[in-house]
Amino acid sequence: MDTEWWKTGVIYQVYPRSFQDSNGDGVGDLGGIVQRLSHFTELGVDAIWLSPIFPSPMADFGYDIANYTDIDPIFGTLAAFDHLVASAHALGLKVVLDLVPNHTSDRHPWFGESRSSRHSPKRDWYIWRDPAPGGGPPTNWMSDFGGSAWAFDAATGQYYYHAYLAAQPDLNWRNPDVRRAIHDVMRFWLKRGVDGFRVDVIWHLIKDDQFRDNPVNPDYREGQPPHHAVIPLYTADRPEVHDVIAELRRVVDEFDDRVLIGEIYLPIERLVAYYGRDLTGTHLPFNFSLLQSRWNARAIAKLIDEYESALPSGGWPNWVLGNHDRPRVASRIEPEQARVAAMLLMTLRGTPTIYYGDEIGMRQVPIPPDRIQDPFEKNVPGIGVGRDGARTPMQWDAGPFAGFSTAEPWLPLSPDFHAENVANLRNDKTSIFNLHRRLLALRRASPALKRGSYQPIVASGDLLLYIRTHGQQRILVALNLGAEPALVSSQAQHWRGRLLLSSFLDRDGEAIDGEIALRADEGVVVELTSSGGLRRRTRLADGPLQGAPKPTSSGPVGVGARCYDTIARPRGAPQPTLRLTPPAAPRRTERAPPPRRGRD
Ligand code: GLC
Repeated sequence: MDTEWWKTGVIYQVYPRSFQDSNGDGVGDLGGIVQRLSHFTELGVDAIWLSPIFPSPMADFGYDIANYTDIDPIFGTLAAFDHLVASAHALGLKVVLDLVPNHTSDRHPWFGESRSSRHSPKRDWYIWRDPAPGGGPPTNWMSDFGGSAWAFDAATGQYYYHAYLAAQPDLNWRNPDVRRAIHDVMRFWLKRGVDGFRVDVIWHLIKDDQFRDNPVNPDYREGQPPHHAVIPLYTADRPEVHDVIAELRRVVDEFDDRVLIGEIYLPIERLVAYYGRDLTGTHLPFNFSLLQSRWNARAIAKLIDEYESALPSGGWPNWVLGNHDRPRVASRIEPEQARVAAMLLMTLRGTPTIYYGDEIGMRQVPIPPDRIQDPFEKNVPGIGVGRDGARTPMQWDAGPFAGFSTAEPWLPLSPDFHAENVANLRNDKTSIFNLHRRLLALRRASPALKRGSYQPIVASGDLLLYIRTHGQQRILVALNLGAEPALVSSQAQHWRGRLLLSSFLDRDGEAIDGEIALRADEGVVVELTSSGGLRRRTRLADGPLQGAPKPTSSGPVGVGARCYDTIARPRGAPQPTLRLTPPAAPRRTERAPPPRRGRD
């Protein structure tokens, strides 16, 4: 049985600037996180991942690091960090740090030395090139934050490469000294007790050694982020990156029980390569597919199926619904669906990551022009790439500044904070906050949800159903992604059991006997207990039930197709069918896809 905490646990992303301010400067800090540690235990998460807290000019809010082995004064001190780790560990919480090895700040002393002269011993720590023969940037490579990815340094007559801001020069990962320096940075924090790293833009680390131009993207359209004009063939996802990652992994493996998570925006078939050869890469290559999916049962079932089928043997899945770079889930989908989304995240097979504030249904906050902070929005205004709206202060209570600070926060508060805050929602037994608590508790107590196999049942109309099984426990999850009620039953199996949780938190313990009634926007978790279950489960592994309809390629997505787990997949499975009232036809206009964002 797997005992790794990062397989059975739930990760919570803290964006430190916006979580809790403890010194009245309007910016969150480590002292604030310590004050709020009970929030994590109350919620029931296992690990917190902190976005960068290191000394930084904050051109990209900490993703531009000027010193890898200290804490920015805005967040606190090394002593405050040690206190945070010790306090978190005392509560059984793991602490994961953001590692940003692709680039530094232009104020990092390494870059200062590198740019000081063409002959500097650190010149080759960054990526320097002569101008193109006729002048101008050496290649057509583009910055993800707009414009050329090359900045000219007049003093030395060369360009340096920056995948993001010019203030974030890329390190040269082909240089072994750079690798060693970052390995030492990792050891510095691992020795201090951190439980692992989320590695920023890990798929960007290696660039083409022949500096070939990226192909032009024929599908590029006006209004898309400018860097989509080229396909990043030579600037990201290079084959050699996997050797670099295997080295990072070896450093993490020098210590017990630590995790390596990778930030990777790639299609599933490329993403899964980041488990590495024989699983020597990242433990968890972040799976962002739900961030970009249409909120539609068939689309979601299809991506789960694709993901599960693509996982390498032994590769542990994971799911993400929100982060500091994408619009909040409660605004990407219809607000009534935020509860269904939470149930999906907590009941899929694999490690979930919760973005701070999503547990109280925080929405994307409109940012007035004079309050915009995000450099991406400043560089590429007006096309909706701004990330500030997903980074607004945590809404703790209805008091001044939502209990986040005693001063005006660095980003505006959501106008709804008087009602939508932790204190209020805690007292409302059926709130989305208490739904998260219940889901986390259920997951913790359920072997099937924590580590069971995943078997798709059906995705049809607005309904998405799947079963998680471990040992004797069989859990059926039925999600209604639509605004019409539905009555669901299986022709192949008689569902008998007990309803453990409704997303509305008002049906605990209800007996299920054949049919499951779902209200609009409702999801339920049912423990199946029918005596026939064991026999059927055994036959599940052996192949389709006698008399069960054969899976068809034209049927609804996922119908009886497979059963996924870490041991053997796919396996034949019976094909339950749904009887729906009203019929399975889509009940309202299909929802618009989430807004397209940069860097995917
Ligand atoms: C990652 C971070 C993002 C940052 C970028 C550049 O994508 O998540 O916030 O702007 O890297 O470091």
